Amino acid sequence: MNNKSIGVFDSGLGGLTAVKEIMNELPNESIIYFGDTGRVPYGTRSRDTILKYTRGDIRFLKTFDVKIIVIACGTASSAALPMIKDEFDMPIVGVIDAAVYAAVRATKNKKIGVIGTPGTIKSGEYEKQITAYDPEMRVYNRACPMFVPLVENGYFDCEVTRLIAAEYLEEIRAAGVDTLILGCTHYPLLEKVIGEYMGDGVTLINSGAEVAKYLKKKLHGDTAHSASPDADRYRYYVSDDVSSFEELGSIFLEREINGQVSKIDIEKY
Ligand code: DGL
Repeated sequence: MNNKSIGVFDSGLGGLTAVKEIMNELPNESIIYFGDTGRVPYGTRSRDTILKYTRGDIRFLKTFDVKIIVIACGTASSAALPMIKDEFDMPIVGVIDAAVYAAVRATKNKKIGVIGTPGTIKSGEYEKQITAYDPEMRVYNRACPMFVPLVENGYFDCEVTRLIAAEYLEEIRAAGVDTLILGCTHYPLLEKVIGEYMGDGVTLINSGAEVAKYLKKKLHGDTAHSASPDADRYRYYVSDDVSSFEELGSIFLEREINGQVSKIDIEKY
């Protein structure tokens, strides 16, 4: 039995899509979440900067003596994790492997779309892993840099989001994909808009949900927090304004997180 927490981080709100799924799949686990809201977005930064931020985020979560760290950020998982995974003496999982595993099982016509931040798409990591499963798979990539600011500002379901989604997704839809990987953990917050545009025949893969299923297998039975209230089990840290994170985070997680969020200075780590 291991009562240590699961550490999870992202550049901002997006990683909460993974946290929500981890809470559902593993309701007895305790979670420490860090959202780097002071430095979001990661996806438009250089690889060196993404590496620096990712290392700092891991060092911060390690101060809590967590048992595993989940990089709930497609950008850090693809542009940094392959380079740094051996630098830390603890298990670190990203979101790419689990999403690819789900996508190659879901597709019937072997045409998979991948949307993500510029950093994720530039890394080529999704395409590399998908074609390693089956070289006949066709992968259609598209970077969607404006989706992250829309999410961070709460534009989940509105006209401007629909217009931008149509612009980004037009070619992928025209290519006839039957599976679309939401390769950035912010994007499930836009699932309704993306799903409506792509149509019923396209399976959307939520990378946060897939990593939660993976964790359930990996950590099965490895906890004992069942009776404690939310405030004891779930703690959130951000590197910028606490109140906007509390507001949007509570709506999204469908549970009150007011009073459980603290601000930290991530530059110290
Ligand atoms: N949610 C992150 C991702 O999955 C990061 C988005 C960003 O900061 O650009 O890529």
